[in-house]
Amino acid sequence: MNYELVASAPEALAVPLLALGVPKQANKALPEALAELDSRSGGILARLFANGDFGGGRDETSVVYLSGDGPQRLLLVGVGKAADMTRSSIRRAAAVAARRARALGTGAVAFAMPETLRGAVGAKDFAQVAVEGMAQGAWQCDELKAPNDEKKPPVSSLAVVVALDEQDEAAAGFEIGRAIAEGQSLARRLQFLPPNRCTPGFLAETAQQLGKQYGFKVTVLDKPAMETEGMGALLAVNQGSATEPRFMTIEYWGAGDAPPVALVGKGITFDTGGISIKPAAQMEEMKYDMSGAAAVLGAMDVVGRLKPKLNVVGVIPSTDNMPSGTAIRPADVVNSHFGKTIEIVNTDAEGRLVLADALSYVRRFKPVAVLDAATLTGAAISVTGHVATPIMGNDEALVEEVRKAGDRAGERCWPLPMFDEFREQNKSDIADVKNSAGRAAGTITAGWFLREFVDGFSWVHLDVAGTAYTDSDSPPLPKGPAGVPTRLFAEFILGRAG
Ligand code: BES
Ligand code: MN
Ligand code: ZN
Repeated sequence: MNYELVASAPEALAVPLLALGVPKQANKALPEALAELDSRSGGILARLFANGDFGGGRDETSVVYLSGDGPQRLLLVGVGKAADMTRSSIRRAAAVAARRARALGTGAVAFAMPETLRGAVGAKDFAQVAVEGMAQGAWQCDELKAPNDEKKPPVSSLAVVVALDEQDEAAAGFEIGRAIAEGQSLARRLQFLPPNRCTPGFLAETAQQLGKQYGFKVTVLDKPAMETEGMGALLAVNQGSATEPRFMTIEYWGAGDAPPVALVGKGITFDTGGISIKPAAQMEEMKYDMSGAAAVLGAMDVVGRLKPKLNVVGVIPSTDNMPSGTAIRPADVVNSHFGKTIEIVNTDAEGRLVLADALSYVRRFKPVAVLDAATLTGAAISVTGHVATPIMGNDEALVEEVRKAGDRAGERCWPLPMFDEFREQNKSDIADVKNSAGRAAGTITAGWFLREFVDGFSWVHLDVAGTAYTDSDSPPLPKGPAGVPTRLFAEFILGRAG
């Protein structure tokens, strides 16, 4: 993908497609800032507004061809009510613009929003979210299909357009946006790749590549090394598989020897459920069960690009979850890395097992804060659907800090309570804890299970089962991988780095 920041009057740009974000207009009048473009369109813009064909409502679009040597096409994109204007509403409009560019086959899109239409969103934020949004809308992955000449070309060039006097301010936001866009695209590609390609070994190779590219210290544990470490819970999940597990850590030291922030991501490359096997319908979606890991790798890519003054460690426990004659059974009891014994009552509750060992392992870094992301429970979808990510933790201030990072990132979170009563549900008659507490409050009991393995650090857990990918199109996001919570991780890190 090519990214460009352009400081110019929008009407002077010779581009195939200029998209303009426009907030909702109350009076059917052409916004003053569009007067010059209107005259180049021979008054068509004013008529679009006057007749109510375009009014700036959220996700509304209109394409107009212009004459002269400026933009070939103009795409008006509605941002919604001016009073509700945020980074997120602008990011969304930029995504809608790029999706339209894909459909039109222009190969490139430039996004502008005159200052007078942007409300309180300044040039820096504008440039950041415009790139992020365009990258989100333009993303596609055709690498598993034969090349096809008849197909519309992908969008391979994204430009953010700002006024001349905004260039310096915008440049800072543009660089952040580009880094985050690239990190999120990496996460989405990893999510997209099928489980026979995106194996634990492939995730480890990706981590090693990032290490080479950015100078991270990358450590990859194979199965014998995990046995030596005593990662009994992760190994139990891998026990039925023909594919070796991997446990990887990626270390970035950007602030001397200060205690690091750790990001932990569930890396189940395919979740059949194991002996507690899942129904066949939609089981193919379980290739996305490594979305937490993908977001950690995506966030480390952002860190490598931006080099923030902060220490960050990425941790990924990875295996698939398969049924076989060697697989773990319901009723088995396994030893965790932390030392607690776990009664397996459902082999489909495997994510919490691999994360338990990862949360235990991460103690050696003496982290100030640990954020984990996991497609952990189907119940999360019942709570906040595909709109927000349930968040839990042992430190209210950290929960709030992460929630705010999610707001900035356009990856919203909503807190669930960790009342003691929920902890009781995980009690086992025969072991220290059991891996499934049944249907009631399934997202919270899963969170409490993880918390049994958290010791000595502030921690939050993000259950991204409903947000990491979608099974239906929406205007700003095609169905498939969403890369959530890559942007949230990035915003959290940038916020901490100051
Ligand atoms: N990976 C699934 C959770 C999931 C379900 C993610 C649907 C995305 C969409 C997880 O490993 C799982 O199977 N969880 C079980 C837990 C239960 C057995 C306690 C679930 O949610 O049913
Ligand atoms: Mn499962
Ligand atoms: Zn799973």
